Amino acid sequence: MTRKEFFSRVGFGAAVVLVPACIGGLASSCSEDEGSPVPAPTNVDFTLDISTGALATNGGFLVHGGIVVARTNTGDFLAVSASCTHQGTNVNYNAAGNNFICPNHGARFSSTGVVTQGPATSNLQQYNTELTGNSLHVYS
Ligand code: FES
Repeated sequence: MTRKEFFSRVGFGAAVVLVPACIGGLASSCSEDEGSPVPAPTNVDFTLDISTGALATNGGFLVHGGIVVARTNTGDFLAVSASCTHQGTNVNYNAAGNNFICPNHGARFSSTGVVTQGPATSNLQQYNTELTGNSLHVYS
């Protein structure tokens, strides 16, 4: 086998290996723009310490267990499923508008998770919150 023949065969082989890997990874690595919504968490039951971190101040939010937990500018707490119902990007809490906004294509959801602007067409799941001292209970 000549050197030219060797590289010709190796190059062709690599292309054959790489193409299926990319096709198999379409949902994640080959196309970051087209995901799928993650189903809203069920049987939710956890507690967060709000004395430190993002929830210690009004307007802060975090994602825990697939749920966005937010503290409004008036000190109330909200919890909705994090995965945008359009293509699955985690939504952010927008304290100024007291709503949730998807950074991917701009879908908006009310403070209770109801779609107010597409392209999403389904609501986020809302969860209950109950504050006792510095412990915030989030549950279905
Ligand atoms: S993923 Fe498209 S608007 Fe959220």
